[in-house]
Amino acid sequence: MQVSPLTRRRNQSRATPSWSLTGMDYGVSRPRSHVVAKVVVAAIMTAICMFILRQSSASDGHDLFSKREEGVMHVLVTGGAGFIGSHAVLRLLTDGHRVTIVDNLSRGNIGAVQVLQQLYSGPGRLQFVYADLGDSKAVHDLFAKNAIDAVMHFAAVAYVGESMAEPLRYYHNITSNTLTLLKAMVYHQVKTLIYSSTCATYGEPERMPITEDTPQVPINPYGKSKKMAEDMIRDYVRTSDMAAMILRYFNVIGSDPEGRLGEAPRPELRPHGRISGACFDAAMGAIPGLQVKGSDYDTKDGTCIRDYIHVTDLVDAHMKALEHAVPGKVGIYNVGTGRGVSVKEFVEACKIATGVNINVRYLDQRPGDYAEVFSDPSKIFRELNWTAKYTDLKESLSTAWRWREANPNGYRLLIAAI
Ligand SMILES: NC(=O)c1ccc[n+]([C@@H]2O[C@H](COP(=O)([O-])OP(=O)(O)OC[C@H]3O[C@@H](n4cnc5c(N)ncnc54)[C@H](O)[C@@H]3O)[C@@H](O)[C@H]2O)c1
Repeated sequence: MQVSPLTRRRNQSRATPSWSLTGMDYGVSRPRSHVVAKVVVAAIMTAICMFILRQSSASDGHDLFSKREEGVMHVLVTGGAGFIGSHAVLRLLTDGHRVTIVDNLSRGNIGAVQVLQQLYSGPGRLQFVYADLGDSKAVHDLFAKNAIDAVMHFAAVAYVGESMAEPLRYYHNITSNTLTLLKAMVYHQVKTLIYSSTCATYGEPERMPITEDTPQVPINPYGKSKKMAEDMIRDYVRTSDMAAMILRYFNVIGSDPEGRLGEAPRPELRPHGRISGACFDAAMGAIPGLQVKGSDYDTKDGTCIRDYIHVTDLVDAHMKALEHAVPGKVGIYNVGTGRGVSVKEFVEACKIATGVNINVRYLDQRPGDYAEVFSDPSKIFRELNWTAKYTDLKESLSTAWRWREANPNGYRLLIAAI
């Protein structure tokens, strides 16, 4: 639980010179020493902030987290320092719930936790626990010391390409850690789980749109490890009164419409990055431009089609899932818009949102990329009354861009403010 983040960062693998995304690629021009220096400074700042955060949690109504309180739901959010997790924490706090974040900060941002603590600084609202879900003693301690009612399990490594290069890391981080978490929940009798799954568990379906009944035949360790975690949850729930909801997300984009949070992928993760981060990096000049792999697919404009779901809508689906979870049952839902958008359309929307004429090169197809992926979200509409609201791509990207422009280096660490 007390692993030094400094030690961990030094051991992290270095960026490779050529980076790729689904259907896209781009090159990098930054000197490595510059990036390493930035990472070291960020690590030191993170260590200081974590120390301060821990002090403030400990002295500020920590007791409240260990007791049940009538009318207050205490939700454990794993990976709450990450992109989606932090947005979920914001919504949980806004709705009056009590939140404990557990995160090892391997990927997320302590700055996002600080923003949330500033917004909801009252006693018993939000606490941050620095721990790795692979550390079963730390996970047991967490449940023993806190009166948790429900778990939203976001924490994961989540890049398809990285999973191909480091498969065991994915089976450990996703499958094995979910088992550790599940066993701790069972032992401490925590009976509600909302699980972050992915459309990658479907692999390359023959028919579109993808429904929840589409066969799951994942084709990479990321999708496979998520499917294994899903299977464990389903098998356990069959034998118990746990209430579980499995949400299979499509491509998540956007950021808090009020600009309090954003997507701040770390520079060292750019090699595995996602399309919105890459477009914004190109618009900021952090990378020279975008290389779209494949312009001769059998699609409306020749580029790949994907289903982009706004993070605020996704979080809303989690709240509906929490509300409708039933003991002894597993609900499985696709979370997407049901509308396919081409890479070319996405890039054009990004150019309008940023006002930058991003340099784009169209290359040959990349083996293994599939032409079209989009969801059928009718089950979640029918059963949970959820539907995507933020479907104007230009608007969603404009909001996300405003945050990114205001925070070109990601979250600022607010040491003086705490
Ligand atoms: N972003 C997407 O488009 C997308 C699509 C489908 C599914 N998902 C799923 O959503 C979840 C959240 O994704 P995200 O985009 O917010 O990723 P993210 O990297 O921004 O957040 C993940 C968080 O989990 C933490 N974490 C990772 N391993 C941990 C461990 N062993 N112990 C404690 N904390 C750990 C990281 O530090 C990070 O803060 C993941 O489970 C991912 O598979 C994401």
